Amino acid sequence: MLSGLVAWLDPLARGAGGGGWIQVADLPSVPADGTPVRVSVVTARTDAWTREAAVPVGVVYLRRTGPSEVVALHSVCPHAGCFVDYQGDRKAFFCPCHDSTFAVDGSINDPRSPSPRPMDTLAVEVRGQAVWLRFQNFRPGIQAKVALA
Ligand code: FES
Repeated sequence: MLSGLVAWLDPLARGAGGGGWIQVADLPSVPADGTPVRVSVVTARTDAWTREAAVPVGVVYLRRTGPSEVVALHSVCPHAGCFVDYQGDRKAFFCPCHDSTFAVDGSINDPRSPSPRPMDTLAVEVRGQAVWLRFQNFRPGIQAKVALA
């Protein structure tokens, strides 16, 4: 459903999260066999006039790499900012905008992929049975992984 949308056009998503830690999932909800699961990142947002309790700021894929180890891959394609889908039958990620493909660990698995870098990883901590991450967005279209302010 999110396929093909250009995420970086959304002002809420740009630089969202402020780099703070956000609880995104319970560890048992991340498949133990390493299959990625897509989760929404929701955070509270406060300014001088309003406080919104739950604002979605992005989507990530979580993947278990050990009993208590989880990696997070940003769902936004590093090429031009479309959303990347996980295709279970191919055990790979695919971006429908310009056909970038990524292995299950987020690496580029086809040299014809136009993406200039692998899928962006995010810092993850497993605290007891809770998965936390530092959500950031990154500049698309360049080889370096540069966080947006
Ligand atoms: S935006 Fe993903 S391949 Fe171009």
